[in-house]
Amino acid sequence: MRRLLYLNPFRSLYGRIFLWFWGTTIVMIVGAYWIMQNIAPPVEYLPMDDKQHFMLENSVRALQRQVFRSPDDEPLESILERTSQRGKLMMILLNPKTKEFLLKGPLPHLPNEKPFLDLIGSANPLRIATPIGDMFGPMATNIAGTEYLLFVGRIRPRGFVGDMRHRPPLLLIGLVLLISAVLCSLIAWSLVKPLKQLQVATKRMASGALSSRVGSASYRGDEIGRLGRDFNYMAEQVETLLNGQKRLLADISHELRSPLTRMQLAIGIAQQQQLSSNPKSNEQALARIEKEAHQMEHMVAQVLMLSRLDNNARDSRKQPVSFDALLTGLLADCEFEAQSQDKVLTVDIESDAKINADEDLLASGIENVLRNAVKYANQQVSFTLKIDGPEAHLVICDDGKGIPESDLKHIFQPFYRVSTARERDSGGIGLGLAIASRAIAAHEGEIEACNQVKGGLSVHIRLPILA
Ligand SMILES: Nc1ncnc2c1ncn2[C@@H]1O[C@H](COP(=O)(O)OP(=O)(O)OP(=O)(O)O)[C@@H](O)[C@H]1O
Ligand SMILES: [Mg+2]
Repeated sequence: MRRLLYLNPFRSLYGRIFLWFWGTTIVMIVGAYWIMQNIAPPVEYLPMDDKQHFMLENSVRALQRQVFRSPDDEPLESILERTSQRGKLMMILLNPKTKEFLLKGPLPHLPNEKPFLDLIGSANPLRIATPIGDMFGPMATNIAGTEYLLFVGRIRPRGFVGDMRHRPPLLLIGLVLLISAVLCSLIAWSLVKPLKQLQVATKRMASGALSSRVGSASYRGDEIGRLGRDFNYMAEQVETLLNGQKRLLADISHELRSPLTRMQLAIGIAQQQQLSSNPKSNEQALARIEKEAHQMEHMVAQVLMLSRLDNNARDSRKQPVSFDALLTGLLADCEFEAQSQDKVLTVDIESDAKINADEDLLASGIENVLRNAVKYANQQVSFTLKIDGPEAHLVICDDGKGIPESDLKHIFQPFYRVSTARERDSGGIGLGLAIASRAIAAHEGEIEACNQVKGGLSVHIRLPILA
């Protein structure tokens, strides 16, 4: 029973489109046929000239001759047909009493019999001018005791279309329906095929094939093409996002293993030292364990912050805050840090504009950039804040080694560290700039880094300010 439901054409778009178009075609064909049956082409009755009179009279005589010469049992239709073939003329006999036509068939090219029936009782024969040729008549003639009216004329060759019109109407309608069925199914298929592609791509994505995309359907210029392109864009985003998450998880596991290994080593040493009861070594091992635990805690806190930022969890905490309030504390901390490393931090703040911000988040983003500059500078670090129209521009420069150009585009990815920094074991975990870039993005700002010509890195942060 359920299977039978699938045969219902209204359960599929293909069936609906096909039936809709085909139904419309059928209605149009029936309508056109009805109109053809009911509206006769214009017919004009004109007087005949001598030549035409002569032809009509000649035809009557020729018909009478043929009747006279024919065997008695030969039907009148065949006699009429033979006469009309010999004279190369179209001949129609009309019985005015019964109103029956001989050689009637479907009357050639005239959709109905009215123009001939109207002339029953007409005193003089006339020229019946139709768009496709002239007929002449009626001319009364007596054949085997019955009165007939003869019409004679020349009708233009019918051609293919004309021929078709004289085939039985059911055959003609069948042929038109067949052609329209093929055309309608092509239209329905052309609409449904790309949707099927979309369905297959969606199913494949749902089953985990993140690289699956819609093919040819997305090249179309119509709404379905746009849907296909939107799907591909969405798939691209989902793939990037999920791959990013996977990489992040792998990086976190990898980064957590180093302090854990060092901690295990320290515990092992502490256990050995306990046996030898050397209090100094015990202290060293405990200090190492504490340091590693502290680093792990710091890393977990940073990762948590990163994941919260990815989920836009801090939108509600935004409020107007001045740059002065935002920067004073962190600039003082960084200045102290710089001094302790014999480095100089120069600060140039042009104005005290306000910004709609999550104070802690934005401050920690800027601090990460500034602390990097202090960490990697040789001697000089500069911090400038300038207002330009609706935006604040923060530029943080140092005179360190800068970053190789090939690494520049990666430094905002989580856990990315330039290889020399890894070798130096700078102590960083590679999350500072990832957090900074997300914090800036959460404030509708932008961050970019470039190497200065004179050496050292320059980080440019652009943030929208409150009017
Ligand atoms: N001012 C700079 N000069 C030179 N290299 C830099 C500078 N700032 C960042 N880098 C490089 O970019 C990498 C990523 O910086 P990021 O702040 O994300 O990580 P980190 O400083 O190593 O660790 P942490 O998570 O503790 O900040 C750093 O490892 C370093 O190699
Ligand atoms: Mg850092």
